[in-house]
Amino acid sequence: MTSWLRWTVGLLVVAVLSLVSYGCNSEEPSPTGPSGSTGSPAQAGKAGSAANTQNPQSQQAANELTTPTQRVDPKSLAKVVKEEVRGGEAQEGPTPFDYLWQPSKPELIKDEAMNVSVPAGLMKLAAKINVPISNPITKGKYELGRQLYFDPRVSLDGTVSCATCHNPDKGWTDNMAVSIGIDGQTGGRSAPTVLNTVYGRTMFWDGRAPSLEGQAQGPIQNPIEMGKQSYKEIIERLRKIPGYHEQFQKVFGTTVTLDGMAKAIATFERVAALSGNSKYDKYREGDMKALSDAEKRGMVLFGLRLHPDDDFKTDVVLQKANCTACHSGANFTDEEFHNLGVGWDVSKKQFADLGRWAVEPYGARFDGSMGAFKTPTVRDAERTGPCMHDGSIETLEQVVDHYDKGGTPNPALDKDMKPLKLTPTEKADLVAFMKALSGETKKAADLLPELPPGPDGKKADPRPALNAPSKKVAAIFHPASAR
Ligand code: HEC
Ligand code: HEC
Repeated sequence: MTSWLRWTVGLLVVAVLSLVSYGCNSEEPSPTGPSGSTGSPAQAGKAGSAANTQNPQSQQAANELTTPTQRVDPKSLAKVVKEEVRGGEAQEGPTPFDYLWQPSKPELIKDEAMNVSVPAGLMKLAAKINVPISNPITKGKYELGRQLYFDPRVSLDGTVSCATCHNPDKGWTDNMAVSIGIDGQTGGRSAPTVLNTVYGRTMFWDGRAPSLEGQAQGPIQNPIEMGKQSYKEIIERLRKIPGYHEQFQKVFGTTVTLDGMAKAIATFERVAALSGNSKYDKYREGDMKALSDAEKRGMVLFGLRLHPDDDFKTDVVLQKANCTACHSGANFTDEEFHNLGVGWDVSKKQFADLGRWAVEPYGARFDGSMGAFKTPTVRDAERTGPCMHDGSIETLEQVVDHYDKGGTPNPALDKDMKPLKLTPTEKADLVAFMKALSGETKKAADLLPELPPGPDGKKADPRPALNAPSKKVAAIFHPASAR
């Protein structure tokens, strides 16, 4: 019993130490890593041994694989942690800090401001609101972001780019229930569209990233999406590509950094991933014939009034479907989190995914955020399916049925989810209206960049990565079997 206890304590110390050193990026400690590594394995090892030395011989032998063999003074332990956090790699080369961000040399920067014109129906991009002061939109940055977005060399094995899961030809998503990443692995959530995320207040289905810049740093280090690689590996790989080093110098006055990558990719998304000038927008601008009668009825059911100059008459009840309770504003989202009962397991009485609740800090959690997800835009919904955070609803018709029955009852169901009692015609009209929200969007052919050649002068082709790595593809189209 006592030895079991010591063993457990030993493990705990190891776990805590590695958490402190590696934060949440779960960067793999690598004894042979490029940095020569101040060797977390060894140090973590020392820590555990303090509690471990009195174990029986046999158990100790087994433990040596995971725990250390030397005794260590707890005081020096604190020092190790401190060094690790400060960047103990300093002696061997660049510090982690150097990969994340560098002071810029303004004399290297050769870039100019870029004007963005947005399609009809969307709001002009505003500094501070849509474009952070720290990351103004410039021509060179846009161009660099375009390359990085489509470059599969950002992923560990060169098979996956951002466009694999957010392909402009598939509504800037992958049209799969859940995405396939590197090695054909799947995650539990559906890739949301990048379209109009410039207007988003938070990123991800649970809103855990505060900006497009914050979002862009996630996938490259996500073991399922782009591979189990540290930011150092990615940055070092890109620094070896002369074209990237040169462009970073011109745009940021530094060599390749994670900060610069995120800023460039976010800039590309802000400029290129816009959807507007749909039939609905043309109607709003005064073209009364842009929408059919069915689309107009659907619009009214959805919760939007007819144009004041339109003499079209209908007796459908304004807002009967109550969609604008959440899908409001120019981008058809309130940017809030709601529970529609999607992913609620009726027999087990639990959520497959806790959604917003899981990322709210203790003290700020409220019951209504359990199983709640960010309201997505309805613009281009026709092209971005399957629908919902888990891709569990395939068609727009089925989405309307879900709302018509008032969602799936569960303890956290949103108060705006009530049975709607829509007639078959009304349901069809709603779908017709949603389809009239499909806008003018840029396609892959408009955007595919010429990628800078690798260090060996070899050309890089962005096209194969427009489709997911092939493994497991069959399973993907059926959400139930994919999880
Ligand atoms: C393997 C598939 C995959 C790859 C590769 C991938 N993503 Fe995603 N992306 C997702 C999934 C799945 C989500 C939703 C995750 C969540 O909500 O937890 C997401 C979310 C996002 C969002 C948030 C959108 C919103 O409305 O909240 C943006 C923006 C985004 N990704 C951009 C990128 C960029 C830029 C890259 C390349 C650096 C990238 N993605 C690579 C699958 C992928
Ligand atoms: C209570 C707020 C709320 C109301 C009311 C509401 N929605 Fe939604 N809608 C959401 C949220 C939140 C999601 C994502 C839910 C999830 O993934 O679990 C969503 C998802 C969708 C999607 C899928 C989009 C995608 O990219 O996956 C469509 C389409 C949609 N809603 C249309 C409608 C229509 C049509 C109505 C009216 C009948 C409506 N919504 C009413 C909040 C709402």
